[in-house]
Amino acid sequence: MSEKTDLLVVENLKKYFSVGRGKVLHAVDNVSFTVPRGTTLGLVGESGCGKTTVGRTLVRLYEPDGGKILFDGQDISGVRGREKRELTRRMQMVYQDPYASLNPFFTVGEIITEGLEIHGIGAGKKERMEIAYGLLEKVGLHREHANRFPHEFSGGQRQRVGLARSLAVNPDFIVCDEAISALDVSVQAQIVNMLCDFQESMGLTYLFIAHDLSMVRYISDRTAVMYLGTVVEVGDNREVYDHPAHPYTQGLLQAVPVADPDYEQERSRQNIMLGEVSSPVNPGPGCRFCSRCPHVTERCRQEMPALRPVGTGHLAACHALEQGG
Ligand SMILES: Nc1ncnc2c1ncn2[C@@H]1O[C@H](COP(=O)(O)OP(=O)(O)OP(=O)(O)O)[C@@H](O)[C@H]1O
Ligand SMILES: [Mg+2]
Repeated sequence: MSEKTDLLVVENLKKYFSVGRGKVLHAVDNVSFTVPRGTTLGLVGESGCGKTTVGRTLVRLYEPDGGKILFDGQDISGVRGREKRELTRRMQMVYQDPYASLNPFFTVGEIITEGLEIHGIGAGKKERMEIAYGLLEKVGLHREHANRFPHEFSGGQRQRVGLARSLAVNPDFIVCDEAISALDVSVQAQIVNMLCDFQESMGLTYLFIAHDLSMVRYISDRTAVMYLGTVVEVGDNREVYDHPAHPYTQGLLQAVPVADPDYEQERSRQNIMLGEVSSPVNPGPGCRFCSRCPHVTERCRQEMPALRPVGTGHLAACHALEQGG
């Protein structure tokens, strides 16, 4: 397996939504990152910063409004027809609420074999059911579960069914969008460990979207931090978590509770996360974080900073970092 190559290269990806009366919401604006084959990129940021929109645009549930998505060397930002269908097999998306995406009128067996049938995997119904049984066991369920309906399962079990359905079509890349956020902590750990095992055994590549920084740090190799439609920092985990460069990332990390009263006091004093959030609708030309940033200058209000290297395998978009060398 060629581990060094990138499975996914995203360059200046844009997704805008028209929200009436000439107003345009810049949900994803010039987003760039890479995901090396067989690794996990964590995607973090506050609610509404565009994480889900990035995921949905990558798997082509949304048409991009600009930029490139290179998947396995091919620009897939404009593919159609048969090529697009093959892509929907290779790129899967797992959601926070699997219940909403599991057809309540289908048995679990039917849910899993549906994708096999669409993509012509398995010689007939019987063979496809055998594949489904194998997948159920793989995700820690039993073959008997194939005859049951989604409502008969717990949240964690439903997430396993959703995962079995995604794995059925033998994908290369899975977007896990808050896939474990709604589950109990112990169940979260089980699902995360399972995802790690599958990554090892099947060579899968993940984009792991979550609010919970500690979970993202645990599961991912690299992390991208989003703020109002833009990536403000991306890099290897040891760089991003131990040497956060962007003021927003520093603020996010400070917001993770620490069991030290002195530190807690200092932290609330410095809390930059309380400032006003700008709007993603018709945004100004400057840095999206300038309304909350403690280091803001006039240049920040006028000019959007680009992602630049700040360490090994570590990029950040901030004018203050540039000036500091
Ligand atoms: N279909 C849509 N039409 C209009 N605006 C949308 C649409 N989908 C998302 N948005 C807007 O785009 C922005 C990004 O939304 P998105 O759901 O990608 O954020 P998110 O980071 O996934 O948030 P959360 O953490 O709450 O899931 C938000 O301002 C949202 O209101
Ligand atoms: Mg989301």
